[in-house]
Amino acid sequence: MTSWFPFILVALSTLLSFTTAEYTGTDCNPLNKTCDPDAALGTEHTWLFNSTLNSELWDMRTGTLDYTSEGADFTIKTENASTLLVSNFYIFFGVMEAHVKMAKGAGIISSVILQSDDLDEIDWEWVGYNTSGVQSDFFGKGNTTTSDRGGYHAVSNADTEFHNYTSYWDKDRLEWWIDGDLVRTVNYSEPLTVYGKNYPQTPCQVKVSNWPVGVKGQSTGNLEWGGGLVNWTNVPFTMSVQKIRVQDFHSGKEYKYSGNTGTYESIEVVSGNSTAKTVINKKPAETLAQKWDDLGNGAHIGVYCGAAVAGALLIGAFTWFCVRQRRDGRLQRALDDGQHGEELTALADNKMRWRSSEIFLQNQKYQPVP
Ligand SMILES: *[C@@H]1O[C@H](CO)[C@@H](O)[C@H](O)[C@H]1NC(C)=O
Ligand SMILES: *[C@@H]1O[C@H](CO)[C@@H](O)[C@H](O)[C@H]1NC(C)=O
Ligand SMILES: *[C@@H]1O[C@H](CO)[C@@H](O)[C@H](O)[C@H]1NC(C)=O
Ligand SMILES: *[C@@H]1O[C@H](CO)[C@@H](O)[C@H](O)[C@H]1NC(C)=O
Ligand SMILES: *[C@@H]1O[C@H](CO)[C@@H](O)[C@H](O)[C@H]1NC(C)=O
Ligand SMILES: *[C@@H]1O[C@H](CO)[C@@H](O)[C@H](O)[C@H]1NC(C)=O
Ligand SMILES: *[C@@H]1O[C@H](CO)[C@@H](O)[C@H](O)[C@H]1NC(C)=O
Ligand SMILES: *[C@@H]1O[C@H](CO)[C@@H](O)[C@H](O)[C@H]1NC(C)=O
Ligand SMILES: *[C@@H]1O[C@H](CO)[C@@H](O)[C@H](O)[C@H]1NC(C)=O
Repeated sequence: MTSWFPFILVALSTLLSFTTAEYTGTDCNPLNKTCDPDAALGTEHTWLFNSTLNSELWDMRTGTLDYTSEGADFTIKTENASTLLVSNFYIFFGVMEAHVKMAKGAGIISSVILQSDDLDEIDWEWVGYNTSGVQSDFFGKGNTTTSDRGGYHAVSNADTEFHNYTSYWDKDRLEWWIDGDLVRTVNYSEPLTVYGKNYPQTPCQVKVSNWPVGVKGQSTGNLEWGGGLVNWTNVPFTMSVQKIRVQDFHSGKEYKYSGNTGTYESIEVVSGNSTAKTVINKKPAETLAQKWDDLGNGAHIGVYCGAAVAGALLIGAFTWFCVRQRRDGRLQRALDDGQHGEELTALADNKMRWRSSEIFLQNQKYQPVP
């Protein structure tokens, strides 16, 4: 069987008919637009997924991550829901090592991919009906005229055991490794890459997703690939990620496309320290207990005295709060009575601002199409 559905993000776009660029695979295609440069990773780092990912480096575009002691769960909890995590950094050739348990269930796709702004792509994809295998795939410049590039690899208990899925990518070759075994190599120049034309060669983001392909209205080919319709009585469908190591083969600050060929020669590496590197090397914030220990004994006594004063202030503030509450109560009554005053108008304005910011936040949240 061939992989009928390479472009998971395009798939999500048709599936959920979103109007934002979020699901179309790319926010800005540099081959026909002027886009901002891509922020480089510029270093190597391993992210353990058992504690909150830094939101400066990772963006949860849809769904939520559920952290456990062993990793993060990407869970489809309700009909048509999906999850998508995207790195804010790009690598320009490098290594991506993901330790993953796939989601089990017909019509469910787990995926860890590298994807560029002009839609070069290097994939690991697990189809939920087969817990004994994984598929490897690649694309160049969003070319899907043929689906003859998929590879099929045996893995035991892919849903219940973490395995090490590593993609190695440089300008000469692409390799897929499972638990330390090389399972597939694609060279830059061979018939399958149309002699380099379809070879992935532009800076890529890491994208991790658990999403349903098996929904009504999907093409027969896609349904077949995914193993049929999702049986929604079986939610939740959970994919777990223990850790991801990413290595960028360049060490600059950002990547720029020059011209519109999309070849690796056209990528300009801007030198400097990447934002990602700065964030990664930042000294972790001290815990409160550590800060306390860092203070001397004299300081401790000072803090105790301060606390006593604070306690007194707190009582005062509480008293003020009670008086204030009663006043607000009066204002409310005035409002109800249809009376108006300057203070009253200000109060109402504040409530409006608060409400609209709440509405704003709600609109930001992912919501499945009803
Ligand atoms: C941009 O270029 C890509 C790849 O060549 C093409 O698929 C896409 O349709 C183009 N988009 C626009 C808006 O021209
Ligand atoms: C996360 O996993 C690492 C390695 O397995 C472990 O050392 C660490 O204690 C774990 N952290 C949490 C918060 O569970
Ligand atoms: C699952 O995938 C493996 C590897 O491609 C393959 O050998 C096996 O036949 C597949 N099983 C099913 C049920 O399709
Ligand atoms: C797309 O890929 C096919 C082979 O998979 C190739 O024949 C065709 O020339 C490619 N199209 C473009 C626009 O590169
Ligand atoms: C995962 O596999 C890659 C490729 O074989 C290897 O370099 C790496 O050390 C492995 N990671 C672990 C944690 O064993
Ligand atoms: C890829 O290149 C290596 C040598 O660099 C060669 O041994 C191998 O046969 C090539 N594979 C294909 C599929 O062309
Ligand atoms: C899920 O998506 C399918 C296909 O678009 C649609 O027919 C169905 O009504 C959706 N279900 C829900 C609960 O949104
Ligand atoms: C869906 O799953 C439930 C529970 O496993 C099962 O009883 C039901 O027959 C399944 N439905 C279909 C259409 O397969
Ligand atoms: C990059 O960071 C290093 C170490 O933090 C510093 O020495 C160097 O000057 C920085 N380079 C630039 C171009 O900012």
